[in-house]
Amino acid sequence: MGERLRLDRYLSEVSKRTRKEAKALIREGKVTVNQKVIHIPEQKINLETDQIALDGHLLCYCKMEYYLLNKPAGIVSASRDKREKTVVDLIQDRKREDLFPVGRLDKDTEGLLLITNDGVLAHQLLSPKRHIDKVYFAKIKGKVDTEDQKKFQEGLTVDEEFTAMPAKLDILRVWQEDNDFYSEIHLTIREGKFHQVKRMFLAVGKEVLYLKRIAMGSICLPETLKLGSYRALTEQEIEQLKEEVSKKGKE
Ligand code: URA
Repeated sequence: MGERLRLDRYLSEVSKRTRKEAKALIREGKVTVNQKVIHIPEQKINLETDQIALDGHLLCYCKMEYYLLNKPAGIVSASRDKREKTVVDLIQDRKREDLFPVGRLDKDTEGLLLITNDGVLAHQLLSPKRHIDKVYFAKIKGKVDTEDQKKFQEGLTVDEEFTAMPAKLDILRVWQEDNDFYSEIHLTIREGKFHQVKRMFLAVGKEVLYLKRIAMGSICLPETLKLGSYRALTEQEIEQLKEEVSKKGKE
């Protein structure tokens, strides 16, 4: 039969308006149910079969949305910003108005960012207690060596306030240009402290020149997903993430 809901409640949930605003819109004749203008906020609608539109735009009742974005540099990791374009603004197909990024990437960092309105999953993915791996690719100014690997593995003291959890540092390539050394690395961390990767390298006297997140838990950044593009997570990927956080919670 399909779940039934009052029209004003539906409208307020889907369009992120207060119940009062939703009622006013309905009374003003801005809302149609199956192409017919309805002025009664209390009218029940069927979530499966009825088509509701606001100002002629069809609305969609989906409780949760999950997107994987390849964040470009220059965009802020926020839901809304008065002055700047945000990562949520890039999700043009979004149906819900309450989406937010799962954690923050710096403005100049690129790569994998999950965007959702599932606060429970986001919290679990970010909790250091659950040990969800976040993998970064970085280009570093300096010669990253086995000493750095050891320090990172043992739990690096970043500054007086922060000692990082053990992190896995893989050195991909080291080279010299003129008098300077450069390195490319993969770093796997389980936390998400402010500027964490940059601060970890600064603590060993090196500078991050370029940073990209390539994985979070079981979700990897697809090579085919261009910068600034996104796709919805599949049902299977969502289930896998949920299983992963619940398994890690029990460890
Ligand atoms: N660590 C950083 O320093 N910056 C990011 O954006 C993410 C992790």
